[in-house]
Amino acid sequence: MCGIVAYVGHREAAPLIIKGLKRLEYRGYDSAGIALLDENQLNIYKKKGKVAELENILKDKKLHAKTGIGHTRWATHGEPNDVNAHPHYSHSETLAIIHNGIIENYAAIKQVLINKGYTFESATDTEVLIKFIEDIKKHNACSTEEAVRLALNEVVGAYAIVIIDEENPDQLIAARKGSPLVIGIGENEYFFASDATPIIEYTKEVVYLDDFEIAVVKNGKLNIRNLQNQEKDAFIETIELELEAIEKGGYEHFMLKEIFEQPRSIADCLRGRISSENAHIQLGGISNHLEKLSKAKRIVFVACGTSWHAGLVGEYLFEELARINVEVEYASEFRYRNPIIKEGDFVIAISQSGETADTLAALELAKSRGATILGICNVVGSSIARLTDAGVYTHAGPEIGVASTKAFTAQVTVLALMAIATAHSKGTINEDEYRRLIIELESIPDKVADILTQAEEIKDISKLFTFASNFIFLGRGVNFPVALEGALKLKEISYIHAEGYPAAEMKHGPIALIDEDMPVVFIATKDSSYEKVVSNIQEVKARKGRVIAVVSKGDKDIKGMVDFAIEVPMAHEMLQPLLTVIPLQLLSYYIAVLRGRNVDQPRNLAKSVTVE
Ligand code: G6P
Repeated sequence: MCGIVAYVGHREAAPLIIKGLKRLEYRGYDSAGIALLDENQLNIYKKKGKVAELENILKDKKLHAKTGIGHTRWATHGEPNDVNAHPHYSHSETLAIIHNGIIENYAAIKQVLINKGYTFESATDTEVLIKFIEDIKKHNACSTEEAVRLALNEVVGAYAIVIIDEENPDQLIAARKGSPLVIGIGENEYFFASDATPIIEYTKEVVYLDDFEIAVVKNGKLNIRNLQNQEKDAFIETIELELEAIEKGGYEHFMLKEIFEQPRSIADCLRGRISSENAHIQLGGISNHLEKLSKAKRIVFVACGTSWHAGLVGEYLFEELARINVEVEYASEFRYRNPIIKEGDFVIAISQSGETADTLAALELAKSRGATILGICNVVGSSIARLTDAGVYTHAGPEIGVASTKAFTAQVTVLALMAIATAHSKGTINEDEYRRLIIELESIPDKVADILTQAEEIKDISKLFTFASNFIFLGRGVNFPVALEGALKLKEISYIHAEGYPAAEMKHGPIALIDEDMPVVFIATKDSSYEKVVSNIQEVKARKGRVIAVVSKGDKDIKGMVDFAIEVPMAHEMLQPLLTVIPLQLLSYYIAVLRGRNVDQPRNLAKSVTVE
């Protein structure tokens, strides 16, 4: 969702900000803009569409600004157009703002301002905020930073903002509540961004702004205060992210790169945590909570999107191995349902970005009701990672493609590690099973690499389904969430309507859809539901449906029955999702490419949904 990049220092601000906005394109957006302080004049340039279009507008201008703010907007209030794009001027046009989030009480503030004679050009809550700040500044005859503080005390909602001020050319003011904001600290220069990706080529030293904090850079110095005007220490962290991790590295799309990175990302996730020699799992982040977790009455996973599907796999893992009752909740439903939290409950958030607004709010609610809260996040230092009592990072590396792939397999890997470690601590699996599961986990990266060698075959299959308008994905047991994930991947990037179901549910509805035009993808590996899934395949074939099946290596029986079979190596049943999901990611990818879709930035979607 919206992306923020701002700069104050000695470099040319415009090219630096444009490059930064391009780094944030993956978050999803529909317009882009920049405000520059050039020869003490504050100018705004903004445009609906891609950052490249904004860059085009700037091409012929002679710009020498050393201070500027830039933004990619994902529309919430007001349609995507040039006027609603950020930055927005204050009434006097001496201040400009960029904003990520939603000001919930903007309508009431706007009415007060209208009564005072203010007019508004855009339909945004953001324009209301900057005009409100300027009104306070005028009324109180105070500094801009004090006006920002006073205004934010009146604001309800979520925000990350950066404000530029014509009267203070070497100053930027930023604040956050609920939306991420990172400050990069260089030599006499400062960078502000929604995440670290636009910053890392200049500096690795960063400060993550906390909720209710205002950061002011002035005369080359950074000062942080909270909304009560108390000074706060700037806690400087060093980030480890390398530039090549956020570049395509020769692949046509980030998504393809990330699919192919999975042998490595799963291995990275396991590294240092697992040892088959000593038959041991070590999860440093939660080691102090493991005993309590093994005694948990209930685990509730809260998540959205693909992370929710990982949670469903987690449910099978924890129930089967650790015999703990698990519920998997959409974070957006959990937070508004007055959930029952009892002593001994663990609420575990699963989130790639660690910034999803609903997941964060669900966790805050669970914490306020006394649950122990844990996090499974990919982005180090993210809001969820910092809110939780403890957690396990997935270490998948930056995921840039909007459709999640390697983050999913890393989440499932962490869930497997946690479930096995908990089961061992609880005694629900014996030493032999513990060792066997560890050996099985260690073999997963090679098995994923083996599946990836079939990419060309999967591409050939996808050619025959490029023009399908519907798809059904079916699986059972621990492969049911994989069916959901396969359907989600396809609809996200190809815009083909796709449904995922537990295979046995087919008879209760979806079977009515099956005819010779309906492709049905079965996950039909050799596991405890194998025979039942074979019957379901026959039911589809009897109705002339076209079947693509993901099968265990060497399974000739299903191969003889279906139109196309994609083989995956044998694995422990509980770990199969780490393998069966791979062909489905590739199938979606190739179909979307053949349909000419923007695979990495599908329409209307955002990588990190920071508004509810
Ligand atoms: C968005 C993304 C999905 C992601 C979901 C949850 O919808 O497009 O790919 O699964 O948010 O995001 P999170 O960062 O919390 O895992």
